[in-house]
Amino acid sequence: MSLKTYAALPDEEANNVRIEKGVSAHIEEVRKWTSSRFLHFTFLYTVIICLSGMLLSNVLRNGSPMCGDISQQLFSPASSAISYEITTFGENFYQKTPYMCNVTDGLPTNATDKKWIDLYDFGNSWVTKDDARQLTLDTVQLPNSDLYVTQLTVFHDLHCLNVLRKSLYPDRYMSDYDDFINKDGSRNYTSVDAQHYDHCIDNLRRSIMCHGDVSTISWSYNKYRRVPLPDLRLTKTCRNYDKLREWGHEHEVMTALKWKHGPESAFKHSWDD
Ligand SMILES: *[C@@H]1O[C@H](CO)[C@@H](O)[C@H](O)[C@H]1NC(C)=O
Ligand SMILES: *[C@@H]1O[C@H](CO)[C@@H](O)[C@H](O)[C@H]1NC(C)=O
Ligand SMILES: *[C@@H]1O[C@H](CO)[C@@H](O)[C@H](O)[C@H]1NC(C)=O
Repeated sequence: MSLKTYAALPDEEANNVRIEKGVSAHIEEVRKWTSSRFLHFTFLYTVIICLSGMLLSNVLRNGSPMCGDISQQLFSPASSAISYEITTFGENFYQKTPYMCNVTDGLPTNATDKKWIDLYDFGNSWVTKDDARQLTLDTVQLPNSDLYVTQLTVFHDLHCLNVLRKSLYPDRYMSDYDDFINKDGSRNYTSVDAQHYDHCIDNLRRSIMCHGDVSTISWSYNKYRRVPLPDLRLTKTCRNYDKLREWGHEHEVMTALKWKHGPESAFKHSWDD
């Protein structure tokens, strides 16, 4: 039957069929070649993307100061302590974290105070002369030592936040307030303590603006208030604080800083000679 049909085709049509077969064979050839080239490129791009991804995540994890972490263009003696991780924080309005107050009476406890102190009470750090020479500002040699003194801003910021936290509970932290609260209970807003609070607020403003955290807060329906409200859970990329604290402990200046009063020449600076 097919033979008969074939034979029935006029010559011209048979020719056309042959030409079309030739063309489609050629197209098939090109298609095969294109698709194999496509596969090769896909493979190569996949390899390149994977390798770059691995390199980038390695750089981000290790926070290499030389390449990668663009937030570390200036020298820090603690750059090796930077490591990033994605961290999820729970709701902290109704659910108290250990840094917050007693849920029953709304006041800080001794445990609260200890949590705060443990964040930064090793705050003054020693650095070698080599590191001290690379700081963004000149610093001073420690007494009876060839090491120099510095402090990581993160520890100073936490100290500031703790000072402000305590200022909300003057009854509990009375001894911190002899300068700020007058004998008649009124406040002295020109006292050194008041200036310390003002400094701390501005210091935290600087840090918060400097870091420009662009992680996001969502709204979710609150069944008690019957409206959507900001959802206080958070997921964001954080520097691992334990690593920074470890660095702080390893570099802690163990003795209280008691400088002997004297002329400037009595103190050696890291940028001297
Ligand atoms: C929390 O407050 C309640 C009520 O004042 C008190 O009984 C309890 O001891 C407090 N807890 C701590 C850890 O201070
Ligand atoms: C909290 O600490 C203070 C000062 O160290 C101490 O006098 C007080 O007894 C402590 N309170 C509790 C409930 O342990
Ligand atoms: C407030 O503090 C300043 C600075 O310590 C002091 O000079 C001033 O006398 C104080 N004012 C009062 C009313 O105590």
